[in-house]
Amino acid sequence: MDDLRSKYIDLIAGAASEAALEDLRVQAVGKKGEISLKMRELGKMTPEERQKAGPALNALKDEVNAALAAKKAALADAALEERLAAEWLDVTLPTRPTRQGSIHPVSQVTEEITAIFAELGFAVAEGPQIDSDWYNFDALNMPDHHSARAEMDTFYMARSEGDDRPPHVLRTHTSPVQIRTMEKLGAPIRIIAPGRVYRSDYDMTHTPMFHQVEGLCIDTDISMAHLKWTLEEFAAAFFEVDHIEVRFRASHFPFTEPSAEIDFRCSWEGGTLKLGEGDDWLEAGGSGMVHPKVLQAGGVDPAKYQGFAFGLGIDRLAMLKYGIPDLRAFFESDLRWLKHYGFTSLAQPNLHGGLS
Ligand code: PHE
Repeated sequence: MDDLRSKYIDLIAGAASEAALEDLRVQAVGKKGEISLKMRELGKMTPEERQKAGPALNALKDEVNAALAAKKAALADAALEERLAAEWLDVTLPTRPTRQGSIHPVSQVTEEITAIFAELGFAVAEGPQIDSDWYNFDALNMPDHHSARAEMDTFYMARSEGDDRPPHVLRTHTSPVQIRTMEKLGAPIRIIAPGRVYRSDYDMTHTPMFHQVEGLCIDTDISMAHLKWTLEEFAAAFFEVDHIEVRFRASHFPFTEPSAEIDFRCSWEGGTLKLGEGDDWLEAGGSGMVHPKVLQAGGVDPAKYQGFAFGLGIDRLAMLKYGIPDLRAFFESDLRWLKHYGFTSLAQPNLHGGLS
């Protein structure tokens, strides 16, 4: 019995896994285990022998069972320790030890604009950057021969040979989203549509790809007054001042009637731009009352509905607000520029916590 004891106690101590331990259990105290078989022999013994061997065998069985349980617990502890060591994290480390990237001013300003107009009840709409000339021109009251088409320096997509349908274009403005939104939602509508637009132009203030935000508000009782108020609310919130005077300058767009150029009051004193005061005017974009033909093209009844639309240049707003001198640098992906003018990814613009 002493041999059995030392054999199993040693084996159990050396078991490397729970599976090995289970094998040992079966081998020692399982139904046909070595110790169990010994217990069956008790029946063949004389009562005196049994009286001595019985308790001793039971004690041995208990001892082996206890050793098995202890080893099992020890193995589980060791496994847990190993897992804890492997999965250890220093939760006191900063989440971003080095700044790896930043939010581009165009993205930042788009978020700011979206936050402001969301507060005014405007949803965000989208349209494709490659669009048919119907959406980009015809539906906006610019028929084939219209001079505005030529003025827009349009990029045309190539058609395959023999295909003489009119070519698609890279949208020259976000106004086609007006039509798509009318088709999709019907009236009333209150949306903005920020996005990329394309024109063949390149200098300090023009790049072939740039960003506009379209605004469209359609209902049964909308006037130029609503347009002006909306633009004033937007401008003051965007430039983070109490009030900015908006001036309408008579203009012409085929898709609005009447049409107005949007100017914000400002001063350039000492070379720095101040918004809302001074005797200068900053050109911000185009606007007007949606032309009845445009409503019609979008499937909205001009006898019942009318509305305003505007288009603002997002890149230009970003340059003015954050003092960025050259538009071309926006799209050159120069890491030094991005580091300097970029925004931290953790600062989400909203009207309550501050826009910028
Ligand atoms: N789409 C015009 C442009 O790109 C701007 C505009 C939008 C004017 C909406 C009036 C109404 O120049």
